[in-house]
Amino acid sequence: MKRALVIGSPVAQARSPLLHSFWLKEYGIAGEYGREEVQPEHVAEFLRNLPARGYAGCNVTIPDKEAAFHACTHTTSRASALEAVNTIWFENGEIWGDNTDGLGFVAHLDAVHPGWDETNRHILLLGAGGGARGLAMPLLERKPLRLAFSNRSEDRLGKLLADLKKVAPHAPVDIVPWDAKDGALADFDLVINTTSLGMQGKEPLSLDLSRLPAHAIVADIVYVPLETPLLAAAKSRGLRTLDGLGMLLHQAVPGFEKWFGRKPEVTEALRAHIVAHLPK
Ligand SMILES: NC(=O)c1ccc[n+]([C@@H]2O[C@H](COP(=O)([O-])OP(=O)(O)OC[C@H]3O[C@@H](n4cnc5c(N)ncnc54)[C@H](OP(=O)(O)O)[C@@H]3O)[C@@H](O)[C@H]2O)c1
Repeated sequence: MKRALVIGSPVAQARSPLLHSFWLKEYGIAGEYGREEVQPEHVAEFLRNLPARGYAGCNVTIPDKEAAFHACTHTTSRASALEAVNTIWFENGEIWGDNTDGLGFVAHLDAVHPGWDETNRHILLLGAGGGARGLAMPLLERKPLRLAFSNRSEDRLGKLLADLKKVAPHAPVDIVPWDAKDGALADFDLVINTTSLGMQGKEPLSLDLSRLPAHAIVADIVYVPLETPLLAAAKSRGLRTLDGLGMLLHQAVPGFEKWFGRKPEVTEALRAHIVAHLPK
């Protein structure tokens, strides 16, 4: 029996068990996917003991992603740039870590708007938290002409850009001041919200989309609600949109393949299964 799990704190709300259990059933794989509450200070020891307990690996959620990065003996270049991992597996006695959040976002963008990287190459990314960090490198790998960041707190954004410059010194990145983002929209054709604004219980992101060109895509990584006020506004302007749920589904693909030996598919049935379990 192959086994994996998600760790974090709290971990009760994590949606990974729903996803992976769906695929295990779908493909008739004798496997198990659980969850365990682990505090950051216990992550290293927890991971060292996992193979002996019969686990092939795990997902890592907040607040354990940085501690898990430091507990890994090998990490992918993506994870090293972020100093955070969300997917762990074991190979020849080594602990490997990757960060698949941004890959998930880009895979969803490819699936819904194929060819976007030829037509929508001026990207404005709102936010500078964990979500923004995850998206930066996978977006840069698609060679945008411009990747601008805008964030309420300049300090946090400055740190993100400094880290990015270390791994991608020639990347076409710059800053749009938070107060200037409405006026700057005419220069962009892919806008991505990675702030928590618009999430259930939070105020909406205030953004005037009227200057965006007609071929622009507006994306949100928030997925509760599935249609955020930002996406609703983009739709009513006739713009193309991308919701945050696809990122969650696609980021799980590499882990499942490593642990259970089959590359799973992100299907409408999987999406419907997760949507049915989202808060109304
Ligand atoms: N779809 C997915 O798979 C996926 C994956 C990861 C995260 N998410 C979602 O993405 C959202 C952000 O997650 P995260 O991990 O990046 O969070 P985080 O690290 O806490 O970052 C939060 C971001 O939101 C900004 N923000 C929060 N309140 C704000 C306000 N009132 N005005 C302006 N900016 C504000 C913060 O700006 P400051 O720096 O100024 O505080 C920061 O940029 C959450 O809703 C999360 O559920 C989705």
